Amino acid sequence: MRKKIVAGNWKMNMTFDEGQTLTSEILNMMKDEHSGDAIAVLNPPFPHIYPVKKLIGEAKGVFIGAQNCSDKESGAYTGEVSTKILASFGVQYVIIGHSERREYFKESNEMLAAKVKLALAEGLIPIFCCGESLEIRTSGTHEPNVKFQLTEGLFDLSPEDFSKIVIAYEPIWAIGTGKTASSEEAQDMHAALRRHIASKYGKDIAENTSILYGGSCNPKNAQELFGKPDVDGGLIGGASLKSRDFVDIIKSF
Ligand code: G3P
Repeated sequence: MRKKIVAGNWKMNMTFDEGQTLTSEILNMMKDEHSGDAIAVLNPPFPHIYPVKKLIGEAKGVFIGAQNCSDKESGAYTGEVSTKILASFGVQYVIIGHSERREYFKESNEMLAAKVKLALAEGLIPIFCCGESLEIRTSGTHEPNVKFQLTEGLFDLSPEDFSKIVIAYEPIWAIGTGKTASSEEAQDMHAALRRHIASKYGKDIAENTSILYGGSCNPKNAQELFGKPDVDGGLIGGASLKSRDFVDIIKSF
């Protein structure tokens, strides 16, 4: 049974106090209100990781992730954070290849493949992002384009390693725009990606890979999105900064 996951990508937001308040509110709501099997992954900016992890403690169904990691193992790379360092702080997940990192920081498929391998080597679970621009969606070439991102970023992995990956499909034109993909658009792409995974790794691994949707997911549309057979949860941006919204999304399954 593949995992149901709702990951909150805080992006470059929240001061120390805001992050502590948000985390405490989410933990209290999860404890009082959530009895389902969906798990929450909080992905704050790097400085929050240690204090947020301390607040999470042994809370059921809540995990800590990072928003990025270096494609280098260690050494003279000022400003970078290695997977070894992240793992030493108890980080369990790491978002890799978010469209904002591909666009603003020019992260290539080759760099992302290296990040995935280093994350797996340290026991971290990659949340590997993929998704198309509006131009590509409009041209009708979104399926081959997004499949190519998986091929280039992940298909060098062994079956055992690939089985540890979480995928996040985030149509770029839906990120931060309030224009969510329809549940049919999300389902179509998720199903296509699952078929693509099956073509390389077989049906069992494909069926057990969690594929999350990201892009203006909120408490109003989450239930319809998560009700689709190949949507296994969400990667949430803006709505993850509000404890009520984030927990309501988790309760949407
Ligand atoms: O990584 C999740 C993010 O890109 C989606 O952002 O604000 O559209 O939920 P948002």
